[in-house]
Amino acid sequence: MRLVHWSCPIAGTQFILGMAFLLPHLLVSLLIVLPISAVAQNNGNITVGRSLTATDNSSSWLSPSGDFAFGFRPLNENNDLFLLSIWFAKIPDKTIVWYANGDKPAPRGSKVELTADRGLVLLSPQDEELWKIDTFIGTVAYGVMSNTGNFAVEDSSFNKIWESFRDPADTLLPTQIMEKGGLVSSRQSETNFSKGRYQLRLLQDGNLVLNTINLPTTYANEAYYQSHTAADYAPNLLSPGRQLVFNESGNIYILRENNQQFPLAPGKARSADDFYFRATLNFDGVFTLYSHPRNSGSDGSWTPLWSEPEDICLFSLLASGLGVCVYNNICGPKADGTPMCQPPDYEWK
Ligand SMILES: *[C@@H]1O[C@H](CO)[C@@H](O)[C@H](O)[C@H]1NC(C)=O
Ligand SMILES: *[C@@H]1O[C@H](CO)[C@@H](O)[C@H](O)[C@H]1NC(C)=O
Ligand SMILES: *[C@@H]1O[C@H](CO)[C@@H](O)[C@H](O)[C@H]1NC(C)=O
Ligand SMILES: *[C@@H]1O[C@H](CO)[C@@H](O)[C@H](O)[C@H]1NC(C)=O
Repeated sequence: MRLVHWSCPIAGTQFILGMAFLLPHLLVSLLIVLPISAVAQNNGNITVGRSLTATDNSSSWLSPSGDFAFGFRPLNENNDLFLLSIWFAKIPDKTIVWYANGDKPAPRGSKVELTADRGLVLLSPQDEELWKIDTFIGTVAYGVMSNTGNFAVEDSSFNKIWESFRDPADTLLPTQIMEKGGLVSSRQSETNFSKGRYQLRLLQDGNLVLNTINLPTTYANEAYYQSHTAADYAPNLLSPGRQLVFNESGNIYILRENNQQFPLAPGKARSADDFYFRATLNFDGVFTLYSHPRNSGSDGSWTPLWSEPEDICLFSLLASGLGVCVYNNICGPKADGTPMCQPPDYEWK
């Protein structure tokens, strides 16, 4: 096993991993008390004027199949801070795939409302605006929570004014496409959804990169992964990348201008009838594709299928500005490619 000494001041990964098991348990028990009204409305269509309030028993807006839900999730054990999010609603994990206000947790009693003139707005009990969709021209008619996990805000002519798929957080889902200029940001830790220091970006030149930023600035450091699909990548002179595509059978590729595919996560195509997929830029900087059996009762879990970089510990040595473990701890990859940080005297198996 390759061990890399690295010193850099970010939070201790090993402690955060331990904490990660507390929160989901709490969330599962909260979701069991969802009021019937949330289950009854099931065409995914949310009319203007509807709202959700952040409380213990807040309801959510479900997709027609019930696979995804939009609403508030508690952020801490006191249940006084909430995250406006979209999650897998049918699996025990209730895995969050999108969130709006990671940097501004919503106090109890905050409200998200779909309005005609301002779109989707998240307000604190003091009417402080915590988040809203980008400004737009036109009038909102309704919102749609779809079975793909995309929440869209549409005008009366069915034009999409905003979609969560075009404003990703740390996760991409099948059928989601990232255009040039698109950005996926990691969170701080498993349970802290503030913006983290890792980014996945499709640059204007068609190159897909993973890079760190120096928080609180957004200055991008040298990439620690790149797809080499830029127009001017001399050795191949191939057509440049146009989009990052995540298709229904769990394959991820860069679609070039000439429609050829540059596969990122190839593997065999799997049936979307049997599996959920997600690709998450984890808080440790590893971009990982996972699958989860759809009908697995309480036993199912997310299985990593592919990761980039394969060995984040090696990349942390090569790329300047990328530190994985806290000061003096040692980075060693787990079987799935994610790093594990241990004190210098840890005996690696
Ligand atoms: C959603 O509701 C609006 C207004 O009631 C209606 O015009 C539209 O057709 C509905 N859309 C869907 C997808 O059901
Ligand atoms: C939801 O919880 C609040 C207190 O947190 C309570 O006042 C209210 O009656 C509850 N509503 C339902 C429908 O259970
Ligand atoms: C998350 O982490 C950030 C940065 O370390 C911190 O400022 C913030 O208070 C944390 N948020 C929560 C909800 O703990
Ligand atoms: C997804 O992409 C892979 C690789 O190009 C292809 O084999 C598979 O058929 C595609 N799946 C769907 C549902 O289009």
